[in-house]
Amino acid sequence: MTDLLYVHGGTPLSGEITVRGAKNFVSKAMVASLLGETPSELRNVPQIRDVGVVTGLLELHGVRVSADAEGGVLRLDPTDVESAHVADIDAHAGSSRIPILFCGPLLHRLGEAFIPDLGGCRIGDRPINYHLDILRQFGAVVDKRENGIHIRAPRRLRGTKITLPYPSVGATEQLLLTAVRAEGVTELTNAAIEPEIMDLINVLQKMGAIISVDTDRVIRIEGVDRLVGFRHTALADRIEAASWASAALATGGDVYVRGATQPEMTAFLNTFRKVGGEFAIDDDGIRFYHPGGDLKSIVLETDVHPGFMTDWQQPLVVALTQAKGLSIVHETVYENRFGFTDALRGMGATIQVYQDCLGGRPCRFGQRNFSHSAVISGPTPLTAADIEVPDLRGGFSHLIAALTAQGTSAVRGISLIDRGYENFTAKLEALGAKFDRD
Ligand code: EPU
Repeated sequence: MTDLLYVHGGTPLSGEITVRGAKNFVSKAMVASLLGETPSELRNVPQIRDVGVVTGLLELHGVRVSADAEGGVLRLDPTDVESAHVADIDAHAGSSRIPILFCGPLLHRLGEAFIPDLGGCRIGDRPINYHLDILRQFGAVVDKRENGIHIRAPRRLRGTKITLPYPSVGATEQLLLTAVRAEGVTELTNAAIEPEIMDLINVLQKMGAIISVDTDRVIRIEGVDRLVGFRHTALADRIEAASWASAALATGGDVYVRGATQPEMTAFLNTFRKVGGEFAIDDDGIRFYHPGGDLKSIVLETDVHPGFMTDWQQPLVVALTQAKGLSIVHETVYENRFGFTDALRGMGATIQVYQDCLGGRPCRFGQRNFSHSAVISGPTPLTAADIEVPDLRGGFSHLIAALTAQGTSAVRGISLIDRGYENFTAKLEALGAKFDRD
């Protein structure tokens, strides 16, 4: 597929699509398979590039990965785990942030791990200090060299007490994947409790781990000597579901998202309703639609779970350009997640970004020169433009903007969207979107 899409906007999206397992869970469950002594089976796996990247990394470490014909079921056999060549791991540098989560399992299995320069979306600095601190606290030795970070476990890793400065998703996963086989008890305070983390805990429990989650963001893990493989069906991708919901709202459409589930989307559904969107939930999915009339402006703050996810923000902002009045969005998870609004402005949206914490409580980015609040004034008709996809979610937002705009937009760099949206061009077709590939 080429990297350029000509999108002929102005047609409401209408029809049905299916979302499969969550990108931000599936990749971690695949890493967890490294901890088992026997093979694992993961179901409801989407065919997205991130799954390919993790498959490649696992194979480099001797895990045999096979998929069924539709790619929805992965079998992961970690019987012959081995060290990979630094140069081979490095070849994956820049494509994902997942390598950092290999550390705990590899330290247990091999006594060493290597992290290349990490990729992932350019939405802020995205440091890994919490991860390295966690590994050090378990007793690992971290050695930063020119080509990346070399980590060793001189002896069996030991359970520890850790308080995270911020409930980081990745750091919580790092801790879980390391603590389950460490000696003794580990206690994590201020843990992230995203549904994808809860499903990772489900997987680890199936493997033989002992993990309890308290209501106050405290997670306790009793290390065990041995874990076995798991069989598990991944929870649905609530970011993809919300992305299609936002596309339905922005284009004045009606989209049934098969596979979308309510419990993980409560905060999104509340906001969707406040903006003026309607939804209907059944056992198989959620129908999202624009009921007609004006959309309403809102004040919104992104947050860790159970708040409104940062990854929902970018697609929804496009819909807010079509809402009547002034909307305020305060991004409190990433310091730099409004870069995508430049292109929207170029298409006619009225969006101003501010360094202040607008709309609610002060966050850790206030007074620190980060443009992390946006004011969106609408409704503004959008006009077609030539746009370059900046990152995964920002890219999908650009796609929504192009679908909403009158005229033909050229959207470049769409292969970035494949990282996290399975078959998105086939889904666009199913929803009646008009577009051509170059
Ligand atoms: N942070 C640090 N130090 C660290 C780790 C994180 O300061 O060592 C900061 C980050 O800079 C950020 C905040 O903590 O400001 C939260 O980051 P977190 O660690 O929670 O994010 P992540 O684990 O790197 C995952 C998802 C992101 C999603 C966030 C928040 C994956 C592969 N990525 O990232 O997903 O936005 O959690 O829910 O699971 C996406 O799917 O497009 C995406 C970016």
